[in-house]
Amino acid sequence: MKNHPLYLVKQRIIRYMYGNFINRHGNPLFSVYDDLPVIVTTGQNFDSLLVPRNHPSRKKSDSYYINSDVLLRTHTSAHQKELIKSGLDHFLVIGDVYRRDEIDAKHYPVFHQCEAVRLLSPHELFSKIPSGDDLMAFEKDVRNPEKQACHTLDAVKLMEKDLKDCLIGLVKRLFGRNIEYKWTESYFPFTHPSWELEIFHEGDWMEILGCGIMEQDILNGAGANEKIGWAFGIGLERLAMTMYGIPDVRLFWSQDSGFLSQFKINDIETPIQYKEVSKYPQCANDISFWVPKEYHSNDFFDLTRGIGGEIIEQVHKTDEFYHPKHKKQSYTYRIIYRHMERTLSQKEVNEVHKKIEEAAVKNLNVTIR
Ligand code: PHE
Repeated sequence: MKNHPLYLVKQRIIRYMYGNFINRHGNPLFSVYDDLPVIVTTGQNFDSLLVPRNHPSRKKSDSYYINSDVLLRTHTSAHQKELIKSGLDHFLVIGDVYRRDEIDAKHYPVFHQCEAVRLLSPHELFSKIPSGDDLMAFEKDVRNPEKQACHTLDAVKLMEKDLKDCLIGLVKRLFGRNIEYKWTESYFPFTHPSWELEIFHEGDWMEILGCGIMEQDILNGAGANEKIGWAFGIGLERLAMTMYGIPDVRLFWSQDSGFLSQFKINDIETPIQYKEVSKYPQCANDISFWVPKEYHSNDFFDLTRGIGGEIIEQVHKTDEFYHPKHKKQSYTYRIIYRHMERTLSQKEVNEVHKKIEEAAVKNLNVTIR
């Protein structure tokens, strides 16, 4: 949905990834998949990612199974293998994911993730460094905490830097230059080594993403044997809550225009600080008038707030037309009234509305229709 906070976060991530990774013609390397089916097989969600048979994430109690082989995807990683198989080496997967969970201000069984996968050939990887062409990406060694058996440490360290630079660039873009962050070691069956990124928010460290060097067996199984890859998965709700100060995940499901209208912006980068929405009902009154030659909607917006104060929740222009015969311009606005602490009566709203009409006539020189 356009203008939803999750839409804004999604678009900002896409814009960052498009701008940051371009080919020699200046075109984005990443392609975006945001409508892949949410119903996936256990093969996609787990097996293709090397999740062991007995791994706790497979439990019936934690996921929404449709039958023993089919479930709602628990992460966007479920699509990694099929997209690599189709020949892609840079892609984002964005969408809703499902995990059985309690419901409160911080937990909800549906949330959104953005997955990124980037595959590089050794040539592409080493061409970034001087005399890199002498380096090897693959070897037969043993697995250790720093790397998989088949990767050279050179290749892994370069991939790690590429991945972490990308993600730090992203969080700085989203949260500003001064965001405090830290990397922690992590474990995922489908990456090694693996990390999590935490950011400091409201006095606490908060984990926002998991990432790592993709297990080579996944690439090999998808026909990308000669490439090395990194992947990350980032949760959109947590980003949006931090960026916009949204205190409760359940608000992302709100249809209340008092919530949604706060995210109606023309430029997706516009900073927004969410303001609490009243739990009492709205009361909408319209006003239409002919306007004089010199007239600006902003003067009317100021005037409504000057008179209605805190009970003006929203003012929108809902219609305008030009009367060709009388050569007159008309505007219609909808004023949405709402009180933070109680239900407004139609009578008191009408009184304020009347005052706004009178002030518009007197100060803005309009003629009520
Ligand atoms: N799929 C992981 C999760 O949902 C995140 C992840 C994606 C980790 C890609 C590593 C690589 O927690």
